[in-house]
Amino acid sequence: MRDLAGKRVLLIVPGGIAAFKIPELIRLLRGRDCGVTCVLTQSGAQFVTKLTLQALTETTVYSDLFSLTDENEMGHIQLSRSADLVVVAPATANILAKMAAGIGDDLATTLLLATDKPVLAAPAMNVRMWLHAATQANMALLAARGVAVVGPDEGAMACNEYGPGRMSEPPAIVEAIEALLSPSRALNGKHAPLAGKHAIVTSGPTHEPIDPLRYIANRSSGRQGHAIAASLAALGARVTLVSGPVSVPDPRGVTVVHVESARQMLAACQDALPAEIAVCAAAVADWRVASAASGKIKKTPGAAPPTLELVPNPDILATLAAPGPRRPALVVGFAAETDDLMANAQAKRVRKGCDWIVANDVSPETGIMGGVENAVHLITADGVEDWPRLAKDEVARRLAARIAEALG
Ligand code: C5P
Repeated sequence: MRDLAGKRVLLIVPGGIAAFKIPELIRLLRGRDCGVTCVLTQSGAQFVTKLTLQALTETTVYSDLFSLTDENEMGHIQLSRSADLVVVAPATANILAKMAAGIGDDLATTLLLATDKPVLAAPAMNVRMWLHAATQANMALLAARGVAVVGPDEGAMACNEYGPGRMSEPPAIVEAIEALLSPSRALNGKHAPLAGKHAIVTSGPTHEPIDPLRYIANRSSGRQGHAIAASLAALGARVTLVSGPVSVPDPRGVTVVHVESARQMLAACQDALPAEIAVCAAAVADWRVASAASGKIKKTPGAAPPTLELVPNPDILATLAAPGPRRPALVVGFAAETDDLMANAQAKRVRKGCDWIVANDVSPETGIMGGVENAVHLITADGVEDWPRLAKDEVARRLAARIAEALG
């Protein structure tokens, strides 16, 4: 319980109704001997007072970019230098948009632009604001730049609506802070149900070469697979993440093997065996070009366009799930479908020989492929669980928890 002892969090408090949970968050962090310094924005001060934050943190609360007193005490750049982590909670649609755009028009946003420390955001907003394409695009951009995100949760909102957008509860935010500041924490103690277990996770697309310049690919971002790798590691597993080409950053505390093609991905998975857990979240290309050209295929005026002969790629999931001494105890596959989701996914579980299938509808209108949210159904031998639409990070956490439960 003392993993956060001596750590320092710079807590930026923007203006959202969920700011009423911030004193509780500070109390939990202080209870673990974690130092907290607050930056309260002007609108944040409408929801929680400077005096409350000052009393709980036992230190100055900063709010003004141009305060000579504050600058004298500690320059605004210095503020984040002396912290181990910057936490933005409640991360409103407004501050997330400013972070994505690189706007620095007050102390909080200037600090976020200037910091070289990891940043964790706990989004909190109305469901429609959260689901708005602008917010989702901002979240995707921030995730690609390495900003960690906890939540939001789904539930009833202050505005009488229901859906994703509630800020995560303070204990979940503390857990996310712990995962970022002491990833090895999970290796001992009761939070490490997967300690001693090895998990192989595949993630991202594969690139199948046509010639040295061109390749066949798909729109997978790797976000879901990477989040699963991080969540399994947070529960104490030793994780080998075999990733196709993606722009999301490597998760901390995970061994990452970067590959391009399906055949390389399979070889890397086989090299990583033995493992107790395999989660195949990669969008592996079903086919590759029979023989990729060694030089650039040229356009010859008047000649017919080239024909690409395709051959099937190895099925990594089916290979790992095949019975044998090296088969992981729990093999999980994904089924991304645009039609007849459940029937296809159920059939896939049997055909591929895996234990579980995580089924999701990737029709373009769902915005799931390449987006930050997922709505999945967990298919096991015992039946189907329908999960609500959740942030991919939250899907990952729930899946990792279910895996820990199944192997416990
Ligand atoms: O057959 P389909 O591509 O729909 O199956 C999806 C599942 O199978 C995913 O878990 C994916 O990672 C895995 N898969 C694989 N190797 C392939 C094709 C799919 O591991 N060649």
